[in-house]
Amino acid sequence: MAFSVRAVLVNGASRGLGLELVSQFLALPTPPELVIGTCRSPDTATRLQDMARTNPSLKIIKLDIENDDDIENAFKETEALVGKKGLNILVNNAGHYDQSDPGDLKHVSREGMLKHYNINTAGHVMVVKKFLPLLELAVAERGSKTLNCQAQVVMISSVMGSLTMTYREGRRICLHYKCSKTAAIMAGIMVSRELRDVGIHVLLVHPGFIQTDMGGPEANISTQESVAGCFKLIGSSTEATSGVLFQFTGDELPY
Ligand SMILES: NC(=O)c1ccc[n+]([C@@H]2O[C@H](COP(=O)([O-])OP(=O)(O)OC[C@H]3O[C@@H](n4cnc5c(N)ncnc54)[C@H](OP(=O)(O)O)[C@@H]3O)[C@@H](O)[C@H]2O)c1
Repeated sequence: MAFSVRAVLVNGASRGLGLELVSQFLALPTPPELVIGTCRSPDTATRLQDMARTNPSLKIIKLDIENDDDIENAFKETEALVGKKGLNILVNNAGHYDQSDPGDLKHVSREGMLKHYNINTAGHVMVVKKFLPLLELAVAERGSKTLNCQAQVVMISSVMGSLTMTYREGRRICLHYKCSKTAAIMAGIMVSRELRDVGIHVLLVHPGFIQTDMGGPEANISTQESVAGCFKLIGSSTEATSGVLFQFTGDELPY
């Protein structure tokens, strides 16, 4: 779906879904004036760098969402780039899934559980907390005429975090990842309630089982297909859909 906004930020943009999100923001019929792709190691994010060489509107900022100093520095750099017009869309995409640990009772560790929670849940919440003033600036600016809201937080979620789906049919693995994604869905619901009052929508979206390093070669959809679906949801978000869990197809998922 075609929509136009002035400034967007995608974290975890070095590869996988994050890289494709950046690519498709740049390819919108009316692309944003500013697309910020953040990554843990800008020096080694060669595909993102290549994209930035041919797209002057793409800026790369270092951000490890486990690290509060990084979040502070990334906020300052973003603030300087967006200015008084603020940030219209913040995509919390960065994610961790340790595939060396099956995440069953035999193998799961406290350290592993906390690592997943720190990135997939606490990291996402801390980023929204820090960047909120920039989203509020975008709301005050009223610059987007094609979205139902002036500012939006997109939480890249997962069906693996759905209690109902896991209870019904989930496989007995990924305890660490699933628990962190369940907590992230709760965080998304809570954040959506808090931000409703200030006119910021929160989109919780399961992007599908995608062919990325995380999804692996067995996955059934491409990053392109996933992002196309996510964009339809971004473009059609309303106050009523804020905090609802969707999959990239537009179907609602149970929590
Ligand atoms: N792939 C799937 O089938 C699938 C299904 C459902 C949901 N998801 C969700 O979709 C999102 C993207 O997944 P993906 O498939 O693109 O995964 P991926 O290919 O493994 O890429 C993960 C991205 O997150 C970044 N990242 C990891 N830890 C980070 C941290 N502490 N701070 C900042 N960035 C960090 C990675 O950066 P580095 O390059 O520096 O490691 C990389 O850019 C995740 O939230 C994932 O949970 C994926």
